[in-house]
Amino acid sequence: MTLDVVLGLQWGDEGKGKIVDVLAAQYPVVARFQGGPNAGHSIQFGSTSFVLHSVPSGVFRKDAINIIGNGVVLDPTIFRQECEAIEALGVPVRERVRIAKRAHLILPTHKLLDAADEAALGKSKIGSTLKGIGPAYSDKTGRNGLRVGDLLEDFRLKYDTLKQKHLARLAQYQFTYPFDLAAAEARWMEDVEYLKSFPLIDVEYETNALLDEGKAILAEGAQGSMLDVDFGSYPFVTSSSTACAGACTGLGVAPRRIGKVYGVFKAYCTRVGSGPFPTELNDATGEELRQRGHEFGATTGRPRRTGWLDIPALKFAVMISGVTDLIMMKADVLDGFDTVKVACGYRVDGKRCDRVPYDVFADIEPVYKEFKGWKGDLGKCRREADLPEEFKAYIAYIEQEVGVPVRILSLGPDREQTLIRQ
Ligand code: IMO
Ligand code: MG
Repeated sequence: MTLDVVLGLQWGDEGKGKIVDVLAAQYPVVARFQGGPNAGHSIQFGSTSFVLHSVPSGVFRKDAINIIGNGVVLDPTIFRQECEAIEALGVPVRERVRIAKRAHLILPTHKLLDAADEAALGKSKIGSTLKGIGPAYSDKTGRNGLRVGDLLEDFRLKYDTLKQKHLARLAQYQFTYPFDLAAAEARWMEDVEYLKSFPLIDVEYETNALLDEGKAILAEGAQGSMLDVDFGSYPFVTSSSTACAGACTGLGVAPRRIGKVYGVFKAYCTRVGSGPFPTELNDATGEELRQRGHEFGATTGRPRRTGWLDIPALKFAVMISGVTDLIMMKADVLDGFDTVKVACGYRVDGKRCDRVPYDVFADIEPVYKEFKGWKGDLGKCRREADLPEEFKAYIAYIEQEVGVPVRILSLGPDREQTLIRQ
């Protein structure tokens, strides 16, 4: 069996939660391989929605095994809150979730460092979710980090050593922040005990054994390709590998075991936080997209920046991850627009260019192609034949430019509002 991967192809918030929940019906195993509680994956049940941060989006499917991989960074306090909220819905979360011993822990002082780093950057801040992601990954690659497996032996000593290093760093900042470290720490220690009640696993042996037994695994990406630490608009990125390769290193699975790579993108673009966004609309149309698409952060509540679809960025994301199937989300948000625009290229410092530029401060101007908008309610379409011709032309153009078929259309938050194409 193969490891199939779901990835966000833009700047996050593409709708990965909904799609993983839908696809999870076909996968006995769902696994997160990178990121942490900076993610906010929303799943809709009738009129209520649930936001997952660290737990894989397969948790609501009966019999699904959900794995938190070694590439993830885990905050025990957020994890516990999330699990208790899931349990309150009657879902036996402890039977469904397993955690890699090699996953790294986010300490309360990581959050303080995140806030101090951002404050020191002033106007050039990244716009981090302030969940401690960057500092936790820095400790991981800097070989200082604490891992879930450390909870099993001499934990307090290891914790205090790392905390002291953090406090020494924090003392160098002119930084005050209303944060009760002692209280956060006391709670964190209790939440660590809660975390220890879950199966703590050697994830690389487990994932490979599951594949050998004939169980397909769906790897659920967090964030998006344009926030990848290597290929995103550095330094305005997250601190993990959000592209397909991250699924191998984040779960201990070899590249040749990868099967399908599902690339999820919205029919337009959004970005939350700082950094380049060539097709951004700072006008009434941008506001309309934000309101109609409910484009407010699921993790931080911040209003998301909005703009038209960006083809060079989409092609770039498809290239670095070898996407085999495209999944288009939220085209229903564009219902009733007279014209829909797509950036088919850029003008960078005045010169025509089809590549995503290295320089994040370059002057990028999109070159647009215009499409006639469609009338009617895409949210009600259940078959290909129901789709308006203008919308089909929009999809056909994207497929032709990107060279990958759009296999799934999500036309609303509900599981039923999903059209699988032949
Ligand atoms: P999901 O999985 C959208 C953005 C932040 C910031 C940058 C770095 O829901 O798509 P970090 O907290 O990682 O240090 O922030 O990345 N960011 C996201 N944007 N969706 C996400 O996750 C994001 N996770 C991080 O806004 O610009
Ligand atoms: Mg999000």
